[in-house]
Amino acid sequence: MNLPVRPRRNRQSAAIRDLVRETDLSAAHLIYPVFMQDGTENTPICAMPGCQRWCLADLVTEAGEAHALGVPAVVLFPRIPDALKTSGAEACYDDEGLVPRAIRALKLAHPTLAVITDIALDPYNSDGHDGLVSEAGCILNDETVAVLCQQALCHARAGADIVAPSDMMDGRVAEIRAALDTAGFSSVSIMSYAAKYASAYYGPFRGALDSAPKAGDKKTYQIDPANWREALREAALDEAEGADILMVKPAGPYLDIISKIRSASSLPIAAYQVSGEYLMIKAAAASGWLDEDKIVLESLLGIRRAGADMILTYFAKQVAAKFALSSSI
Ligand code: PBG
Repeated sequence: MNLPVRPRRNRQSAAIRDLVRETDLSAAHLIYPVFMQDGTENTPICAMPGCQRWCLADLVTEAGEAHALGVPAVVLFPRIPDALKTSGAEACYDDEGLVPRAIRALKLAHPTLAVITDIALDPYNSDGHDGLVSEAGCILNDETVAVLCQQALCHARAGADIVAPSDMMDGRVAEIRAALDTAGFSSVSIMSYAAKYASAYYGPFRGALDSAPKAGDKKTYQIDPANWREALREAALDEAEGADILMVKPAGPYLDIISKIRSASSLPIAAYQVSGEYLMIKAAAASGWLDEDKIVLESLLGIRRAGADMILTYFAKQVAAKFALSSSI
């Protein structure tokens, strides 16, 4: 056969495949979400095999190990005891709360590690919603934003590098930016969960933090999974309000959204491979039906290929450890 074009020539050896590879994936692209709790014990999270809720001392060790393997950042998720949960979520801006203490401990032990915090009320709110809930059961937007600003300021005072509002209230990026700037924290970045979908993939996370809504669902603030134009609108708004990084969440089932926002914005894009995506891979690998290492890398590479600059993934440390052993995937 005298074929004029033979694409297989570019795949014929590992060396040539290395040369023509379009997307790279390394530890430097990964952000490690970590769960934590007060006390001296670590608690394994049943629905997220391999993940723990770390006590502070071990959180510092775990984050340090990930950082030593090349992971640049962690994002913190606290399990708040029921006794501290209130309908006003006041514990979220307590300077002696678990998150500010963790930020201080992490920055002291690992000054080069970027510490990102989640800005939302659900772990602190007795209603389990990201915002304050009215007597009629509505999620109050502007009242919530005022509390989110206090939470962001509290984290900034403790030394957070990046605050990540995951609440999906309207106008929160502009208000948080203004609050930070006014208080002298103009160098604290905002990574906004710009396109956060009302997704069933968050189930294991809510179990890990005991933060599921007590009533109703999150559909009045998180985006309908059927919509893509709405995600572009949210991303454009967050960019205009001063976000430094835009996030899409979940990641794997929303690659089209990552790709569309990549085309529409010049801001860096983060994608969150959420707890349900993690669990699906872990469960399939535990049954012996899938090769965990290969599936994890392929899932992350797909998210990078779609246009994400950085990926929040519970696999971050595991993958970074693999990369430390071999330089190619
Ligand atoms: C809450 C928050 C959630 C996640 C991150 N921040 C859950 C939710 O919105 O209900 C989900 C992360 C995951 O599933 O891994 N503000």
